[in-house]
Formats: sequence, C-alpha cells, structure tokens
Amino acid sequence: MHITKVDNKDKLKFKDLLLLADEQMSMVEKYLYRGEMFALYDDDLKSICIVTYEENGTYEIKNIATVAKYQRKGYGKYLIRFIFNHYKGIGKILYVGTGDSPSTLNFYQNCGFYRSHVVKNFFIDNYDHPIYENGKRLTDMIYLKKELQ
Ligand SMILES: CC(C)(COP(=O)(O)OP(=O)(O)OC[C@H]1O[C@@H](n2cnc3c(N)ncnc32)[C@H](O)[C@@H]1OP(=O)(O)O)[C@@H](O)C(=O)NCCC(=O)NCCS
Repeated sequence: MHITKVDNKDKLKFKDLLLLADEQMSMVEKYLYRGEMFALYDDDLKSICIVTYEENGTYEIKNIATVAKYQRKGYGKYLIRFIFNHYKGIGKILYVGTGDSPSTLNFYQNCGFYRSHVVKNFFIDNYDHPIYENGKRLTDMIYLKKELQ
C-alpha cells in the first residue's frame, strides 16, 4: 500500500472519485487547485483526499472518497491517519465538514474527529440542486475537528 501526492496537472484524472464525495464540479473546483491531493493505492487506486490550508493554523479535509467496491475495508481510515501524521506539528487543527449523514459522521468519529460547529443551510445556499444522501436531503454542514498537536 502506498500514498502519493497528486500533481495539479493530474488532479482531474480523479474526477469520478472527487464527484463521489462532492457531486457538483463547480464546488470541487473551489478547492481542487489550492488544496493538496493524496491518492492511496493498494495495487490499484483505492481512495483520494484533498486538504486545504484555511486560517490560523487550521487545515480542512475538503474531499475524501474510497472507490465504491473497496469501501468498508479500512482504506479511508488509513488515509485519514496518513493525513493526520502529515499535518501534525505543521497545523493546529484539522477540520472536516459533511452533510448530516449518520454513515459519514460515523466514519469521521471512528477516525477520531468530534463535532465542532454547524454552518446552517450550506447545501441549500451553495449548491445549484438538492443534494440527497441515503434518501435524506442535506441542508446544514456539520463540522468536526481533531487537534493536530
Ligand atoms: C466515507 C468514506 C470515504 C469512508 O471510506 P472507507 O474506506 O469505506 O472507510 P473505512 O473502511 O476506513 O471505515 C472505517 C470505519 O468508519 C466507519 N464507517 C465507514 N463507512 C461507514 C458507513 N457507510 N456506515 C457506517 N459506518 C461507516 C466504520 O466504523 C468503519 O469501520 P468498520 O468497517 O470496521 O466498522 C467512503 O464511504 C466514501 O467514499 N463514501 C462516498 C464519498 C463520501 O461520502 N465522502 C465523504 C464526503 S464528506
């Protein structure tokens, strides 16, 4: 298993996986090139992740996705652990924002994140169409965090 940093010129090769986590390309483009992107391979591609620098020593996971047929095999958690170690000591806090979806929240909590704050109506105000997850329309963005020190 290995994790590589993805060059800007190659980022769009992962478009399908990026859209699995964030289904509107115009939203992905807001962080695609200002963020650092990592890809986890175990023979073939398993997971990707994009992390941005925000402010005051904080970093944010903007996108993380595991290829559908390889989900629930530990790859996402392994990549989060790598990200945490990569930014440890460089930043103070690692944030991640997600819709109010029990399965995704469970994943982040399993990875050691805990709830921070909520941005009301984020998915209504920022997306040009309704976003559904497991049949439920997403409205608010739930932020979770983990200390990097
Ligand atoms: C969220 C996602 C990245 C998790 O990746 P993954 O490789 O499947 O995660 P892991 O196998 O490392 O899961 C680690 C733990 O998280 C929890 N977890 C992961 N997926 C879960 C799910 N669908 N439901 C409940 N718990 C889940 C479990 O506790 C799991 O451990 P377990 O399988 O031993 O019970 C993956 O489901 C995905 O790509 N989803 C679609 C894109 C997406 O929604 N991205 C997040 C946007 S905010």
